[in-house]
Amino acid sequence: MAATAPILQVQDVVKDFDGLRAVDHCTFDVWPDAITGLIGPNGAGKTTLFNLLSGALAPTSGRIIFDGRRIDGMEMHETFGLGLVRTFQIPREMARMTVLENLMLVPAPQLGERLWASWLTPWRVARQERRIEAQALDALGLVSLSHLANEYAGNLSGGQKKLLELARTLMAEPKMVLLDEPGAGVNRILLRSIASNILRASVERGVAFIIIEHDMQLVMALCDPIVVMANGSVIAQGTPLQVQQDPRVLEAYLGGQIHGAA
Ligand SMILES: Nc1ncnc2c1ncn2[C@@H]1O[C@H](COP(=O)(O)OP(=O)(O)OP(=O)(O)O)[C@@H](O)[C@H]1O
Ligand SMILES: [Mg+2]
Repeated sequence: MAATAPILQVQDVVKDFDGLRAVDHCTFDVWPDAITGLIGPNGAGKTTLFNLLSGALAPTSGRIIFDGRRIDGMEMHETFGLGLVRTFQIPREMARMTVLENLMLVPAPQLGERLWASWLTPWRVARQERRIEAQALDALGLVSLSHLANEYAGNLSGGQKKLLELARTLMAEPKMVLLDEPGAGVNRILLRSIASNILRASVERGVAFIIIEHDMQLVMALCDPIVVMANGSVIAQGTPLQVQQDPRVLEAYLGGQIHGAA
C-alpha cells in the first residue's frame, strides 16, 4: 500500500442503546487508497458504526480520528465539511428535478466559500454556475450516467438512483465516502456498473471508501481489506482470502453465504 498514514482510525469505540451494546470496543484503521469492506450478519452493528463515523450518533466511549482530527461527537455537517460523506436516498421533492440539477444542488464545502464572495457581481455567479455544471457533468461521467443528465431523477431505476447517489457524494469533493449497502435491490448488471464506478472514483479521484454490503461476490471482488463485525465487535480483518478462511468469520455466518463467494 502506498499510503503511509490511515485516513480514519476507529479506537475502542462503544455505542450503547439503553440496555443494548450495538458497537462493542471496535478498533480498526482505514487507508486512504483502499476500498474497505465492512461485513457481518444482520444486527452486527455496521450501520450504527456508520452513524458514529458520520456524526449522526455520538459514541458512548472511544475515539474516532479522521484525517488527523478527532471527530467523535461532531455533528454531521461538520464531518461533511471535513470531507467525510455518506450517501442518502434522493429526497422525494428532488425526483421532479433532472439528474443534472440534482447534482448541481449538492453543497460542496469548498464551493461554499467561493459562492459567498460571488454575490457581488452577477457575472461571477454565472461563472460559478458553469463551474458547478462542469463538475456535475464530470461526476455523471464518472458513474456512467451522462446519457441521463436531462432525465427526471424520479424516472431512474433503483440501480440508476444508486449511481446518482454516488455521483452526489462525489460532488462534495469527499476524502472518504461511506456506502451502506449500495447493491441492495440492484440487478446484477447495474451492480457490476456500480462496483466499477466505485473503483474508478477510488483510483481517479483518490477517494477512500468504506462499503457495507451483504452481497459477498461484490465485497470479495471490490474490497480489500475487509473488516468483519459480529455482535458489535470486530471479529476479523484482512484480505478477502484471509477473512474467507477465518474460522471465526465462518462461525459468525453459521457456514452460510460466505462459502458461496470462494
Ligand atoms: N436507534 C437505535 N435504538 C436502539 N437500538 C438500535 C438502534 N439502532 C440500531 N439498534 C440495534 O443495534 C444493533 C445493531 O444494528 P445495526 O443496524 O447497526 O446492524 P447492521 O449490522 O447494520 O445490520 P443489517 O445488516 O441488518 O443492516 C441491532 O440490535 C439494532 O436493533
Ligand atoms: Mg445495516
